[in-house]
Amino acid sequence: MSKITIATLQEMKKSKEKIVALTCYDASMARLLNEESVDLLLVGDSVANVKLGYEHTLPVTLEEMLHHTRAVKRGNSRALLVADMPFLTYEYDSKHAVRSVGRLIKEGGAEAVKVEGGESILPSIKALIHANVPVMGHLGLTPQAINRLGGYRVQGRTPQDADRILRQARILEETGVFTLVLEAVPAELAKRVTESLSIPVIGIGAGPDCDGQILVLDDLLGLGEGPVPKFVKTYASLRGEAARAVRHFRDDVKSGKFPQPEQTYT
Ligand code: KIV
Repeated sequence: MSKITIATLQEMKKSKEKIVALTCYDASMARLLNEESVDLLLVGDSVANVKLGYEHTLPVTLEEMLHHTRAVKRGNSRALLVADMPFLTYEYDSKHAVRSVGRLIKEGGAEAVKVEGGESILPSIKALIHANVPVMGHLGLTPQAINRLGGYRVQGRTPQDADRILRQARILEETGVFTLVLEAVPAELAKRVTESLSIPVIGIGAGPDCDGQILVLDDLLGLGEGPVPKFVKTYASLRGEAARAVRHFRDDVKSGKFPQPEQTYT
């Protein structure tokens, strides 16, 4: 299996082969996703709410992102490994951005980073690209802007907002981002953006016409506690299965059915 690089993603866009991307937060899942030929692993800042018990992504720190990026790096061999830049580690100061990203690349082993936003963070994006760091953009619903957006709402519904997102996408491409994540926008807008850009567009809640799709791994596996967004397809119900196994173990311990002689050393 050959290593997926930025050039591979670009070729996949050209040849219309869909890009398969998932979030990943630890080494064992990284190994499994590699075995199943997932093209891109994103150490998403969604680790904050999915794994670390925070309410949303804003509190996650660079140290926490680094810890999970290192773990995924240890389990990854084939996929392109992208790490999310946490909230307020890159937006307002390009030197700060390069220092933060330096840690994710040098210490964490990430091959690229993802940042949320458009024009307002261009100085940081340019500084990162200037430092030879591949940057993935993220437009549409950007969870780090949750307080400004007032909730996890579909973006780009009005013609003005759709035009604004398309314009931002073009600016990001011109600046040199290698791929764009487009989250929670109407399918028609995602199609326009995908067709207008020569870089790959990876959708999440953005309909079927993007160059690839990404989901939060725990949503796909049915591992989460609450309801999932409308755009998620849950392919398994692992939380229910895990609960069943733990209940069974608890009952066996209480009743003395576990351990049996075959689980006992003589
Ligand atoms: O942090 C994350 O999981 C993400 C994906 C949902 C794209 O940014």
